[in-house]
Amino acid sequence: MAYTRKNVTALTRSEKRRFVDALLAVKRRGEYDEFVRMHIDYYTADGERGLRAAHMTPSFLPWHRRFLLDLENALRRVDDSVTVPYWDWTRDRSPSGPPWTDDLLGGNGRRPDRLVTTGPFAFAEGNWTLRENVTDENYLTRDLGRSRDPIDLPTESDLEGALKDPVYDAAPWDSTATKGFRNKLEGWGSGRGTVSWRNHNRVHRWVGGAMVGGASVNDPVFWLHHAFIDLQWSRWQQRHRKHRYLPAKPPGRNNAQYRRIVARHERMPPWNVTPDSLESHERIYRYA
Ligand code: CU
Ligand code: CU
Repeated sequence: MAYTRKNVTALTRSEKRRFVDALLAVKRRGEYDEFVRMHIDYYTADGERGLRAAHMTPSFLPWHRRFLLDLENALRRVDDSVTVPYWDWTRDRSPSGPPWTDDLLGGNGRRPDRLVTTGPFAFAEGNWTLRENVTDENYLTRDLGRSRDPIDLPTESDLEGALKDPVYDAAPWDSTATKGFRNKLEGWGSGRGTVSWRNHNRVHRWVGGAMVGGASVNDPVFWLHHAFIDLQWSRWQQRHRKHRYLPAKPPGRNNAQYRRIVARHERMPPWNVTPDSLESHERIYRYA
């Protein structure tokens, strides 16, 4: 039976507590830090060499789908009633509303060091010491809305701009692609600084602190954000039924993306899966 991922605003008090408790248990077992490490290791950018499986690449969506499933399975080994909720940032836009409440993820970081002091992941609680990071900070930080240089969360119409593109992805299949649903959703826009951060990327920037960069998994909001991104892929598929993951075939030897991206039927590391095998999730989970 497929299980359900709910909007975070629909969780009951006990569902919130169980989700938090499962995260803390996975952290205590050392498994959580393996997820952080893996995300850091797969943070390969356009400008670097080698295969891009996770970011700036067509397989951004299937890679994170599988990554979320692995975390969700780890949570469900602790408590099989738990699923990853999603955060609809087109609706829940307040830094004091869900998911930033004390019974879930806790709130904003304090000035001036951005240390999160409320909720279950606050450093002083002693349950959420960062062990894998790209800086030497060992505590969770946030800067909701970017106090020094404020930005807004993406809007429903920003998201619609991505969803209405019927083509999954397009050449050059990287962060500079101006066509295709994938890069419009992943959010590498043109221009410099704040204007270039769209949709998925913009949310990482809006949360700030730990959510910026390769170690963003250190903030548990990562999973709620990516569940909502995953839901968009599902919505896009329902809207453009004849369209599928692209590219269908690997780029040839003379193409700049040769061996740098994952085609529909190629293996997507570190798993032994293909994007094709991840295009449908309805037998595993559904969104409510
Ligand atoms: Cu990522
Ligand atoms: Cu992300």
